Amino acid sequence: MSTVLEAADLTRQYEVRKGFLGKTAIVRALNGVSFSLTSGKTLAVVGESGCGKSTLARLVTMIEEPTAGTLLIDGRPAEASDRALRQMVQIVFQNPYGSLNPRQKIGAILEEPLKVNTSDDAPTRRRKAQAMMERVGLRAEHYERYPHMFSGGQRQRVAIARALMLNPKILVLDEPVSALDLSIQAQVLNLLIDLQQEFGLAYLFISHDLSVVKHIADEVMVMYLGRPVEVGTAETVFGDPRHPYTQALLSATPVADPTHVRQQVKLVGELPSPLNIPSGCAFHPRCPIAVPRCAVDTPHLRPVAGRAVSCHLA
Ligand SMILES: Nc1ncnc2c1ncn2[C@@H]1O[C@H](COP(=O)(O)OP(=O)(O)OP(=O)(O)O)[C@@H](O)[C@H]1O
Ligand SMILES: [Mg+2]
Repeated sequence: MSTVLEAADLTRQYEVRKGFLGKTAIVRALNGVSFSLTSGKTLAVVGESGCGKSTLARLVTMIEEPTAGTLLIDGRPAEASDRALRQMVQIVFQNPYGSLNPRQKIGAILEEPLKVNTSDDAPTRRRKAQAMMERVGLRAEHYERYPHMFSGGQRQRVAIARALMLNPKILVLDEPVSALDLSIQAQVLNLLIDLQQEFGLAYLFISHDLSVVKHIADEVMVMYLGRPVEVGTAETVFGDPRHPYTQALLSATPVADPTHVRQQVKLVGELPSPLNIPSGCAFHPRCPIAVPRCAVDTPHLRPVAGRAVSCHLA
């Protein structure tokens, strides 16, 4: 088991113009996020829309550079110009239709990364593509088909297969099953779990839905407005959430066991804009247990009952 990625204080801001000829404003999409990824393990990143999950994905995959903070991949500083590092980190998006070229057959889609990055000859590329298709549960005849001829679940299998063609160490999964029917979600999640074991992959699994990550996550990082608010093993965070935001997210997800009574925490109000993050604890305007101090003092992650929580009252 080895650490394949270390992120320290990752921060990303965007400058935006408000209105025509307007003043520039700063969107604080990610505000100091630290974590590491381990081969064979899954870190789940969870939070509402706009909390910075995809921004984090873009930094980890070197699509964008952080405004501040450091990112080490396989012990080396992340550099988009470092081709070997880029190959080590691959991404699967929510909507594979948008990322698969509709004019390419599946075979060509899977062979493209080999064509660009290796000296494999055509028969070798074909053999590797077909082996990967089989590994992700696609049939041999799919090699000659186009993306539109597949169901959503099959297309996501193609996207996963493509991501694995160059033997990456890290897979960033940005809402990989959110667009799929529930029954198909389970199949794709099971496939991801099998592939992780087979290839020893480290997963950064992004989802707005805690129930999706429940079975795949080893560790969970709950984010609110670009900051982690609770980080711990899946067991501790799911079993006994300590941040009121995690509690609210969890009480919004259905419980499998109806005899299990869970404290209901309702989220009130809208998610504030990252253009204008509330003072003190960013969650305080929506927090059911906030006290005056929460509007003034910014809480930091601190150890609470076996995990880290940023809440004055935890
Ligand atoms: N290029 C950009 N320019 C300006 N603002 C941006 C840019 N990219 C992202 N943002 C803003 O940063 C914040 C975080 O966006 P991000 O896409 O990371 O959220 P997310 O957690 O992935 O949300 P979702 O669940 O909707 O995918 C949002 O407020 C978004 O509008
Ligand atoms: Mg996103």
